[in-house]
Amino acid sequence: MTHSSASQVVRQILEGPVTRPALLRWRRQQFLSEAGFGSYFGVFDSFAQARDWLPASPEFDHAALAAEYVDVRTKRVFPYDYPVMWWLDRAFRDGANRVLDIGGSVGVHFYAYRRYVEMPRDLSWRVVEVPAIASIGRDMVGRPGAEADGLSFTGDLEHVMGGGDDIWIAAGSLQYFENARPGELLRHCAVRPRYLLLNKLPLHDGQDYVTAQNIGAGCFSPVHVYNRKQYVEEIEARGYVLRDQWPVLERSLYLPGFPERCVPQFSGLYFVR
Ligand SMILES: C[S@@+](CC[C@H](N)C(=O)[O-])C[C@H]1O[C@@H](n2cnc3c(N)ncnc32)[C@H](O)[C@@H]1O
Repeated sequence: MTHSSASQVVRQILEGPVTRPALLRWRRQQFLSEAGFGSYFGVFDSFAQARDWLPASPEFDHAALAAEYVDVRTKRVFPYDYPVMWWLDRAFRDGANRVLDIGGSVGVHFYAYRRYVEMPRDLSWRVVEVPAIASIGRDMVGRPGAEADGLSFTGDLEHVMGGGDDIWIAAGSLQYFENARPGELLRHCAVRPRYLLLNKLPLHDGQDYVTAQNIGAGCFSPVHVYNRKQYVEEIEARGYVLRDQWPVLERSLYLPGFPERCVPQFSGLYFVR
């Protein structure tokens, strides 16, 4: 038996009716501590309900959360980035040159992908971010040798999303926005993008729900988990075709006490209008 299947068996036993209350107490305590970094806990009806339960924190709007993105994620790509780079490269070859990168941190995808993808000369790459992270991103653009002329930052998704961008990228981010289902965003968007590259999404076959994640540095955030079929159909209803999809094996969501709500692997989706 492999280590992961052994730990699945242990989990199954702990999820049983006798041990479940103790499991939940233990995991709750762990979730709220430093050791709970990255873990998920709880099922909530809404972001507001999750926020009422969570310890007060700035959520993602905290400069300390940028460190790993600045030090590591601007400099390397991960296996789940390859489908995004592949389709991005094709879109650029087809003449696209305006990217809206929703939740793109300090510009991680801009910096990391340009090592492998030839960026258009007249590129506009606009990142939507929370104030603390956007401010670090802007500082980086201004550093000598950054060569990041096309990269800019904004905090206002609603204001910029109809601005005629060709490509929307959202990697591991839309689930943290309270109201950002792509189907809904596109409904309110005057000029819709031609390409949608959505990566690292918690999609599953069950119903939508809200949970919470320990995101590090004493910060916590509500998170949406979505029903895959509905999520995709809402985008298709706005005139898009799902051209590609891929599993993101490096991301999963284990929810203590709710085995049927776990997401064994996240997903990536690529749509073309
Ligand atoms: C898990 S990180 C992913 C970062 C990057 N896209 C990546 O794949 O490495 C989620 C990002 O979404 C941003 N984010 C979350 N909620 C946001 C909001 N309401 N407005 C703007 N950005 C938000 C966070 O600041 C964070 O940088």
